[in-house]
Amino acid sequence: MPAKKKSTASKAKASTKKKTTAKKSVTKPRAKASSGKKMTTKKTTTNKPPAKKMTPAKTVPTKKTSANTTDEPKVRVNKKTPQLVRGMKDIIPKEERYWLAVRNKAQEIAQSYCYSYMETPVVEDVNLFQRSIGKGTDIIEKEMYVFEDRDGSKLALRPELTASAARAYIVNGFMSMPQPVKTWYVGAMFRHDRPQAGRYRQFYQFDCEVMGERDPAIDAELIVVAYNFFRDLGIETEVHVNSIGNVEERQRYIVELTGYLRSKRSYLSEESRARITKNPLRVLDSKDPQDMAVIEEAPQIIDWLSETSKSYFMSVLEYLDELEVPYVLTPTLVRGLDYYTDTVFEFFETATEEEGGTGLALGGGGRYDKLIEQLGSAEEVPACGFGLGLDRAVLVLKKQAERGALKLEASGPTVYFAQLGEQARRRAMALIETLRRDGIMVRHNLAKSALKAQLEIANKHSVTHTVILGQKEVQDGTVIIRDMDSGNQEIVDQRKLTNELRKIVK
Ligand code: HAM
Repeated sequence: MPAKKKSTASKAKASTKKKTTAKKSVTKPRAKASSGKKMTTKKTTTNKPPAKKMTPAKTVPTKKTSANTTDEPKVRVNKKTPQLVRGMKDIIPKEERYWLAVRNKAQEIAQSYCYSYMETPVVEDVNLFQRSIGKGTDIIEKEMYVFEDRDGSKLALRPELTASAARAYIVNGFMSMPQPVKTWYVGAMFRHDRPQAGRYRQFYQFDCEVMGERDPAIDAELIVVAYNFFRDLGIETEVHVNSIGNVEERQRYIVELTGYLRSKRSYLSEESRARITKNPLRVLDSKDPQDMAVIEEAPQIIDWLSETSKSYFMSVLEYLDELEVPYVLTPTLVRGLDYYTDTVFEFFETATEEEGGTGLALGGGGRYDKLIEQLGSAEEVPACGFGLGLDRAVLVLKKQAERGALKLEASGPTVYFAQLGEQARRRAMALIETLRRDGIMVRHNLAKSALKAQLEIANKHSVTHTVILGQKEVQDGTVIIRDMDSGNQEIVDQRKLTNELRKIVK
């Protein structure tokens, strides 16, 4: 075993040898929902009585955040309005900044590590997930959206992407491509989970898979990709890692664990007792405080691994040390899907001091060397990957914005273009088009002609500057640039507008 470099991670832990055999348990993080304030509803009265009898409208004030300090929209809903399905949500323009940041970062980071873009269908044969994720798992038992197609075939809305990626590898002949095949995608998943903040029935994942090779460097690279994704967004995470060995090692461990759990049965929560026979590994994943003492004393899977599996895991850790990615060894980390082998990892939001403890589970992944073969590949195709929860990343960014701690750069146009009169409108259209071609985006509303109304809109968008074009400016070939904070105005030649705005927009 090569001598270990002193890294952030290694400093924080005992010796290399201890790392794999350490009995010391690391407190299991709890997936903790952020405390979203309850929305209050109240009835509104309008000045004029409605012509027809209507069901009373409700006004739902939206939550005030520092990122949203302008006029709050009044939401008018009546019984005729179809409701959102429980657990589903709209992603609305107010959230554009966060959603585009996470989507764009996913694409940027995946491409920078040479992952190729892939999309698979939202609907798959239900069998695919049953055979991959495992029948005793929560996803298959309770959470999957299953329905019958018109021809009677049983279909499912995908609850995750790994099984689809494995199927795509086989049916698209990825075997004949240069190995490994590295894919990335962003897409919607569906799980009929109990909705709460950070848990939805339709949610989005950024997913990366590396299929066709087995090497600790691949596992480490995936952890680094995910780590850098969050870090670049200004989200601090804690990376928890463990190894669950190969199938045989895990089977032997499960026998041991089941015996132990049976002996402690009376101390366990009802849910964990039920899991002893169905899926004992999942007991280790329990968030119920009643189970904690039993879990802490439970045999650790690392002690059931062969020297080969241990040394594979050690190499993953050494790469992480080399790349200076801090990690927490978590012997109870087993993940809730059956297809994993060897390395497993999970990312948690680093909670603030006031929040205490560990934050939301932001993503997870691991190696799945048997899955592709299990799904019918003629040969074994080792693979590894991760799925990161974009809704949760957005939640963290919003919380940062509320605290005034958002590190994201501002996005979206910061200049408004206002025009007065028909002639000015025509000229404005041409100028806006030139600006767009020059790479400068300006907000505008060509349907409005009163300056007051346009400045109000500009203010609502919190732009820093407004370009004003009236009749006189059209005649003179100029525009006015107004600083929205100071109210100072400057007259600029239309031919110099691009250059002037470049200085402002940077
Ligand atoms: P997972 O741990 O089930 O792994 O999900 C990954 C992430 O998706 C979670 O950590 C969480 O951030 C997010 N997530 C899961 N359920 C919900 C929900 N109901 N609402 C909002 N976000 C949610 C997988 O899905 C594996 N396929 C990951 C993987 C890829 N392993 C190998 N390759």
